[in-house]
Amino acid sequence: MKVLVIGSGAREHALCWRLASSPRVRQVLCAPGNAGIASSAKLVPIQPTSVSELLSFAQENGVDLTVVGPEVALEAGIVDLFESNSMPIVGPSKAAAMLETSKSFAKEVMVAAQVPTASYEVFTSEKPLRDYCVKLGAPLVLKADGLASGKGVFVVMKNEDFEPAFAALFGPLKAERVVVEEFLEGVEVSCIFASNGHEVIALAPAHDYKRLLDSDDGPNTGGMGSVCPSPRINGAELEWIQEHCAAPVLAEMKKRGTPFKGFLYAGLMVPTDAGKRPLGMRVLEYNTRLGDPECQSILSRLTSDPVDLFEWIAGVQVEKPVVTWSNLTSVCVVVASNGYPEAVVKGDEIVGVELASLVPGVVVFQAATTRGPKGALLCGGGRTLSVVGVGGDVGTARQAAYKAVDMIQLRGNRTRRDIGV
Ligand code: AMP
Ligand code: GLY
Repeated sequence: MKVLVIGSGAREHALCWRLASSPRVRQVLCAPGNAGIASSAKLVPIQPTSVSELLSFAQENGVDLTVVGPEVALEAGIVDLFESNSMPIVGPSKAAAMLETSKSFAKEVMVAAQVPTASYEVFTSEKPLRDYCVKLGAPLVLKADGLASGKGVFVVMKNEDFEPAFAALFGPLKAERVVVEEFLEGVEVSCIFASNGHEVIALAPAHDYKRLLDSDDGPNTGGMGSVCPSPRINGAELEWIQEHCAAPVLAEMKKRGTPFKGFLYAGLMVPTDAGKRPLGMRVLEYNTRLGDPECQSILSRLTSDPVDLFEWIAGVQVEKPVVTWSNLTSVCVVVASNGYPEAVVKGDEIVGVELASLVPGVVVFQAATTRGPKGALLCGGGRTLSVVGVGGDVGTARQAAYKAVDMIQLRGNRTRRDIGV
């Protein structure tokens, strides 16, 4: 069969790489893809938000199944359009993707579904928001309602940090609604669930590292690394999360006439004190897609055929597939470009990726890379490489990943050294 993957990040590279090894797949296509993805898929020069063009392409080229990577395509209504034209697609409808695209909608659904989450208030203007923040004082978490690539969340730990957060929210972010949440302590875990709108399958749990710098310092990013399986929760806790944080939301979405099909990513804050788990666990957010860089470490451990899972989600296959995982651990280290996240530098040459990929147990996924006129690999800015090491335990996986990272040169790159520590 022919599978089309939408997106151009390292997550989509991992999807194409894994699909290319499926015995059921004859051709992988990727729109628009990148220079790294070209080794696993045929590139199609159409942007993820050009949904009508993508539909025409898929129809004219006999695409059997489409897998959506980024949320921007979901928000542009790609799933609604493909489904109304009987083209199988993996991802939620625009209405169901609101669980990610609107923080206030997600909160409202969580309350209706009785999902454990931080207490919150929603504000639509600056004055009442200010008064509320002054009254309660730090720590509080302020979130712009809408997609902001992880840059719309302000964890305000000191009262003097409210002003810069207001300035960003009502300045560059132009937030029309702001969610203010109670500050939660603990560590984060990313639990991703596949659903066909009725039933649910838990993927292996992972965790990512949101802050730019080692020891969880610096600004929030889309994620600077990931580990799978996450040692932060055990199997019984994952089941509890499925029962209390995924299934009720899926049931609520179905009840509202907007069933959720696709990947529901629950980002949780988990108390470090085992005595406070599972009851003290709280959902921070939902994403309506595979996480990036979680997907890179999760798919590196998937041993069953991804097509069986994708077809089940898309409703092509009715029987629930058995999803299996290797008992290895994977550690993904992100090599971000110079200046990430505030002022990304584009166009620098990346050297050493081929060599790094030869390290045993390592795969290097690329994001937004291009080729220069003489074939040099060029950085497109942002979280450029996802270097995944797989090993018998987290230490071995980590060692492999960093051995490969150290073979790569990218001027001024931003790379954490403590992923998986
Ligand atoms: P979100 O996009 O809502 O997941 O927020 C981005 C990041 O901000 C999360 O991954 C956490 O690191 C942090 N964060 C969000 N909400 C809270 C909260 N209520 N308490 C503490 N940290 C939070
Ligand atoms: N790594 C977090 C995300 O994909 O949003």
